[in-house]
Amino acid sequence: MSSNLAVKLRAGTQQAHTMAENVGLMKCVLKGIVDRDIFATFLGNLYYVYSELEAAIQSNLKHPFIGALYFPELNRKAFLERDMVFYYGNNWRSLVTPSPVTQTYINRIRELSATEPPLLLGHAYTRYMGDLSGGQMFQKVVQLALQLSAYEGTSFYNFEQIPDKNAFKNKYRQALNELPVDDATVNRIVAEANHGFKLNMQIAQELEESLIKAVGKDTFNKLTNSDNPGST
Ligand code: HEM
Repeated sequence: MSSNLAVKLRAGTQQAHTMAENVGLMKCVLKGIVDRDIFATFLGNLYYVYSELEAAIQSNLKHPFIGALYFPELNRKAFLERDMVFYYGNNWRSLVTPSPVTQTYINRIRELSATEPPLLLGHAYTRYMGDLSGGQMFQKVVQLALQLSAYEGTSFYNFEQIPDKNAFKNKYRQALNELPVDDATVNRIVAEANHGFKLNMQIAQELEESLIKAVGKDTFNKLTNSDNPGST
């Protein structure tokens, strides 16, 4: 039995993806406008999200769906720790806390881990496939804008064990497509992926006020008002 889960995830989150691309913070980054403090705060939130997600995956490895989609080369926690040291120093743990939306995100992952592990796949898909796609563009822009060398301060985007991103994404999609998931569960995983997109958008929106302060309201409006039909 093949569920076509990857196909359904892609189609079912396409609208959310276009909305995510159009969040002010994302548009600014793509236009090369990156504030170092805001970017560090953003990665700090992701540190908490990935710590929770990767702990949840780890503790559910015996679940056949989670086990089939476990690729340790995706793990981001250790890379985010490097970025935290870069931006905040060795004492970063006492300086970085999760934002309110990040806390909601963490709580949701924790809840799924305890009650409905298959739905974690919606979150894993939303983050990891995004990191291997648009995330790679982001890294290049941020590195240039903040004048960073190599992956210093952008380790998060460094999938050093995945040299061929497209080949890996195809492998991941194939593993999803082949999962023997029934239709009702497929729909719930897609709904959870959409929830993941929403939480990610809200994390970016939480930072918008600081971004407006950093670049000025007029510049922010100019950078974010143009139409963007989206990439997918
Ligand atoms: C400005 C922001 C963004 C840009 C420019 C962008 C760009 C892209 C591109 C070009 C792809 C297609 C890659 C491919 O098919 O190989 C893609 C796929 C994807 N992106 Fe984004 N993205 C952005 C934001 C986001 C966000 C915020 C998320 C979620 C947190 C996300 C999640 C995904 C996912 C899950 C896919 C895989 C789609 C699939 O093939 O199933 N993206 N992105």
